[in-house]
Amino acid sequence: MQGHCTLQRPWVTSSSSSSSWASFRQLNGRVTTFNRVSFDGLQQREEAGRTKNHRLHWRCAATAEGKQIGGSNQMLVYVPPHPLIKHWISVLRNDFTPPPMFKSAMAELGRFLIYEASRDWLLTVSGEVNTPCGTAQVEFIDPREPVKVVPILRAGLVLVEHAGSVLPANQTYHVGFVRDETTLQPSMYLNKLPERFAEGARVLVADPMLATGGTIVAAIEELTKRGVDHNLLRVVAAVAAPPALKKLSEKFPGLRVYVGMIDEELNEKGYIVPGLGDAGDRSFGT
Ligand code: URA
Repeated sequence: MQGHCTLQRPWVTSSSSSSSWASFRQLNGRVTTFNRVSFDGLQQREEAGRTKNHRLHWRCAATAEGKQIGGSNQMLVYVPPHPLIKHWISVLRNDFTPPPMFKSAMAELGRFLIYEASRDWLLTVSGEVNTPCGTAQVEFIDPREPVKVVPILRAGLVLVEHAGSVLPANQTYHVGFVRDETTLQPSMYLNKLPERFAEGARVLVADPMLATGGTIVAAIEELTKRGVDHNLLRVVAAVAAPPALKKLSEKFPGLRVYVGMIDEELNEKGYIVPGLGDAGDRSFGT
């Protein structure tokens, strides 16, 4: 296989997650409507030294890049087909990446995902400026409409570390959730959200790992309670797994999710496999 490499762990190679990984790769660069996705048909097993090969059958409508089909009542998931996104995901996945490098890789990934998420979303004002050589019609990001950035602590904070360098107008509202290790249920320990968001507020929620979906759903419910229209809400995540995407698509049709990679499954502790481990622990080394 061309470009094949082992990255310090001979038992994990770029082809190790079997042919089903390729089927996920086909999602890259596509907008996928998740309310038509079927999550049945799992559990195909392969012989010949491979472990489990859970293949998901994505019965879904996909369009060419950036084009939405089927109206706004469908959740859209976008996996940007960019080599830099793949690069930073690979650094994050590597068990040998130390915390400071992990943290900066997550922040870099966040920058690209936020760039993609803001592509057709930001409000602008137009005007005219003098250049050294004449006048030009111009468009600026509307400073009166800052994007409300909502990192879910801890790891969400790292994903939006560079949000300010992408979004000229932004405000940050922190929320913190912790997952009970047995029940996997999230509970909120920090809430800096305003009582009420202004009508039309654009809200960007950052949660690096969309695993069971419990935390991200709880966070979005807090936002919608405070007046956020989920059609104006965008989620950025490093890695997502089908249970979270399914839950989000059922609860919030119209939502848009921008994710570095979609993985296939969760382990018994609710971690994404192959995933990248605990994003908070790996970012902060604690
Ligand atoms: N949270 C993480 O940090 N990693 C996972 O794989 C799942 C949830």
